[in-house]
Amino acid sequence: MTEPLFSEDEEFDRPRLAAHGPVRVRVPAKINLHLHVGPARPDGFHELTTVYHAIGLYDEITARRGDTLTLTMEGDGAGELSLDEDNLIIRAARALAAETGHEPHARLHLKKQIPIAAGLAGGSADAAAALVACDQLWGTGMSRDDLAAIAATLGSDIPFLVLGGTALGTGRGELVSPVLTGGHAWHWVLAVADEGLSTPTVYKTFDELGAQTNAGPPDGLLAALRQRDPEVLAGELTNDLQAAALHLRPELRGVLDAGLDAGALAGLVSGSGPTCVFLAEDARHAALIAAELEARDCCRAVRTAVGPVPGARVL
Ligand code: C5P
Repeated sequence: MTEPLFSEDEEFDRPRLAAHGPVRVRVPAKINLHLHVGPARPDGFHELTTVYHAIGLYDEITARRGDTLTLTMEGDGAGELSLDEDNLIIRAARALAAETGHEPHARLHLKKQIPIAAGLAGGSADAAAALVACDQLWGTGMSRDDLAAIAATLGSDIPFLVLGGTALGTGRGELVSPVLTGGHAWHWVLAVADEGLSTPTVYKTFDELGAQTNAGPPDGLLAALRQRDPEVLAGELTNDLQAAALHLRPELRGVLDAGLDAGALAGLVSGSGPTCVFLAEDARHAALIAAELEARDCCRAVRTAVGPVPGARVL
């Protein structure tokens, strides 16, 4: 018997009846505190060692009973995002139905606040939320490990969004194990760019630039998380995709500089970008940095967020 990946969770691991009323699920965005990218594998994916961190910036999915599978949305990206069969939410619902033998019938509604194509895993978060919402709506009684296994077939960082918190990710990012950080809250400021970046393009650029890696094993970062000192953590944040994101969007360098000028302890590109994320000492400091970035008008939106927070959860 292997140990379950996720801690036992009463809410999740007991058999449940199908829900009759609407099911609301909230899911956070993620940033990568450490992202080491290895060379491309034969399947085209890159071997990763990453430390994921879920932050309090949320999308919400409501699932209701229906005769077919439908998806509607409001918020960031409405009118731009395809709501068809290629949407990860629809694919997640269908994957869960196929796995459990349930009819894939639900009326799903997405309330989107996580910016799209921002390097914050918004699309992956929505897929994780859809799995949790449909599991509850249909009463399929899946464990979180079961949902994570389905999540891994849909995208590299979706299992992490089922889990949340802070976690080590390996493989192509789909193998996750929780990192215990002792409940300390870290304060972040996000500078969201006007236009998204395509994740495959950023990885391709990473390869073209010679696959240079700076991030080794995340030992220093994990020690800094345990130390709970933002000044120490600041020195350990690292992202191998940053050079590729800056190559594609040189103006992000100005955004990073603006955050540091505003007093951030550290700044880096989030995941494949183009969102830039800054570490603050505390909530007050984060608000000051955010105000300064807003005043400089160097990006589309500025947000503050605390991490770590739990993954996709029924409200
Ligand atoms: O798994 P996911 O669908 O999120 O990946 C999106 C794209 O990002 C992949 O098609 C691939 O181009 C790139 N990627 C990668 N190596 C990873 C994760 C993603 O090259 N470990």
